[in-house]
Amino acid sequence: MNILLLGSGGRESALAWKISQSSLCNHLFIAPGNGGTGAYGTNVAMSPLDFPEIAKFVKENAVGMIVVGNEDPLVAGIWDYFKDDDSVLVVGPSRSGAALEGSKDFAKAFMMRHGIPTARYRSFTADTLDEGYRFLESLKPPYVLKADGLAAGKGVLIIDSLDEAKALLKEMLGGMFGASSATVVIEEFLSGIECSVFVLNDGNGGYRVLPVAKDYKRIGEGDTGLNTGGMGAVSPVPFADEEFMRKVTERIIEPTVKGLAEEGIVYRGFIFLGLINVGGEPMVIEYNVRMGDPETEAVMLRVDADLVALMKAAAEGNIGDLELSHDPRTAVTVMMVSGGYPGSYGKGYEITGLGDVTDSIVFHAGTKRDAEGRVLTSGGRVLSVSSYGDSIADALARSYGSMARIGFDHANFRRDIGRDLMVLEK
Ligand code: AMP
Ligand code: GLY
Repeated sequence: MNILLLGSGGRESALAWKISQSSLCNHLFIAPGNGGTGAYGTNVAMSPLDFPEIAKFVKENAVGMIVVGNEDPLVAGIWDYFKDDDSVLVVGPSRSGAALEGSKDFAKAFMMRHGIPTARYRSFTADTLDEGYRFLESLKPPYVLKADGLAAGKGVLIIDSLDEAKALLKEMLGGMFGASSATVVIEEFLSGIECSVFVLNDGNGGYRVLPVAKDYKRIGEGDTGLNTGGMGAVSPVPFADEEFMRKVTERIIEPTVKGLAEEGIVYRGFIFLGLINVGGEPMVIEYNVRMGDPETEAVMLRVDADLVALMKAAAEGNIGDLELSHDPRTAVTVMMVSGGYPGSYGKGYEITGLGDVTDSIVFHAGTKRDAEGRVLTSGGRVLSVSSYGDSIADALARSYGSMARIGFDHANFRRDIGRDLMVLEK
């Protein structure tokens, strides 16, 4: 089968790496891909949001399955666009299922309908601003304000002062995040350690749980500074033990999968549960409708199965008895970013030493190749350096060792990935 993977980041590099290992994959195309994805298939200059162009490409190249890396095409309805075309499967939810990520208000209401544990909340619009103020007054600080729609990961504000929270509520409803914040979800603050659980759902009651990971979002060591697209990830997560995962399955995964089916929402793809461990009890912070980045760059190393067979079966609505085993080793990924990111940063720096890495798998993210084939930086998050190990410390030592061989001007990375979890490791 020919496969088309949409996206260009580290997550798509890791998916391409895994997909290209499957005997079911005849030819892999990546649109648009990056400076490294050519190692796994053919890059195609095409926008993941240009559905007519994608349809033309699918026909001309006998593509049998489309795998979507990023949420945007899913929220824009790529599944629905191809649903009447019997020759191609789309791994992912229908547009109505993608609302689990596309609308926080929808996601919260869905969780309420199905008794899924999540923070107490209410939603407000410009017409109910005063009620929003009253609701804020009823909560204890810090205050959590979320733009309802997609806001490129920037739509969540966590504020200590009540006055500031009220002022920001007004600004959000006044268009601070454009149409995305025309509705604002205000919720109770939850305290605990977060983790990411990924489920491949077939929409007919069948699903498989992928290895659990934890990502590191802030730019600075000790989880300080601005939020980024992710600075590193670790899998497995020591506190996500059998007991915790039993609770996750019973209280969150089962009701989510059943709830979608009961509501007639077609969902044949990855569900990303952003969870928080509140004193041993898992609660949902958010749903995403795709794999996580950079979690995927660690998780794929631990998927001991033919991912293409699993995705195909899920997209066909019948995952059956296909197995998805977890590699017992630890996997980590550390992101090398361009100095200045997530603020402004330079591009076009030559990356050297990639050929000298022997202990790690380097997934390209913000890279491109010039006419001479040199690899240059082309984004803020540049490379994801992934390694296996017997422990978190062991795997990290390999990634950091490999990174010492790679160079580009103004490279930056966090030296404390996984440190909070090492103390929990048995
Ligand atoms: P979201 O986009 O909903 O995942 O929110 C972004 C980040 O804000 C999450 O990864 C959490 O770190 C934090 N966050 C969101 N909601 C809450 C909450 N109710 N309590 C504590 N932290 C939260
Ligand atoms: N790592 C979090 C995300 O992909 O949204």
